[in-house]
Amino acid sequence: MTPKLIIHGGASSLDDKGGLATVRQSLHQIVAAVYETLTAGGSALEAVVQGCELLENNPRFNAGTGSVLQSDGQVRMSASLMDGDRQNFSGVINVSRIKNPIQMAQFLQGQTDRILSDYGAADLAREMQLPIYDPATDFRIQEWMEERGEDVRKKMARLIADPTAGIEARKGTIGVVALDSNGKIAAGTSTGGKGLERIGRVSDSAMPAGNYATRFAGVSCTGVGEDIINECLAAKVVIRVKDGQDLAQAMEKSIAEALDNNTDLGAIALDHQGHIAWGKTCPVLLAAYHTGTAIGDTLELTDGDHHGNI
Ligand code: GLY
Repeated sequence: MTPKLIIHGGASSLDDKGGLATVRQSLHQIVAAVYETLTAGGSALEAVVQGCELLENNPRFNAGTGSVLQSDGQVRMSASLMDGDRQNFSGVINVSRIKNPIQMAQFLQGQTDRILSDYGAADLAREMQLPIYDPATDFRIQEWMEERGEDVRKKMARLIADPTAGIEARKGTIGVVALDSNGKIAAGTSTGGKGLERIGRVSDSAMPAGNYATRFAGVSCTGVGEDIINECLAAKVVIRVKDGQDLAQAMEKSIAEALDNNTDLGAIALDHQGHIAWGKTCPVLLAAYHTGTAIGDTLELTDGDHHGNI
């Protein structure tokens, strides 16, 4: 079947759409590169890991290099990977000093203990002989210093690490959902967290609330982790599809519920029939997709557009 792909670089408030051109270029380049892997016969799992690595390596996005700093000035990252075909979830929570947290989630796919947090994740990073790497960028350090200077009045760090991007301080995460030519689905999500959070705060990105896939559908979420966990958004959309709703309906209903609860989040999804869908309760969802014939994105969705599908 024709492979399908959708990726995201976070969800946000926005005060100036001008800066979206650079974000669009980054997302389109990554979606095109990962889609090539799928057309060459790569699996959904391989495509998701590749897409997450490319997004983690792009300092614009809040995951891997360019992750936001927590309240104590440290970067702690979380990531997860779900193989929909095997319904197998793996992830790391609050891992430091590595470049690509998604690689650890990939390694953990084959382990008995599949979700590791801080000390255990650090041990595994050494076991995997991952080089020590500092993902903090000058922009994020400066941002943290300014926010500390304001006595941490802001609740979160900027979504996009680019002062010209015109994107207001908000939450970020990256995610990829892929359907391969064998009809298999995988989903991956990676984040530096909210920024300025308490030490030990756990992100939705390494939970089934924020990243989930089965043989029927896959979803990756972005936004305020606490809101995503309260909605159990990723698992909810996927289970609705398994229970017979079509993907667009499942997304629409789940986003309507999230809107009723005054949440701040977004999600990308696809299903085993090749449908693609997205939804958001915040103003902007930074997502791009590949249908097999064309690349599209969600960057022009207005405030009032809460969901879409193709
Ligand atoms: N959704 C990312 C986080 O809140 O950690």
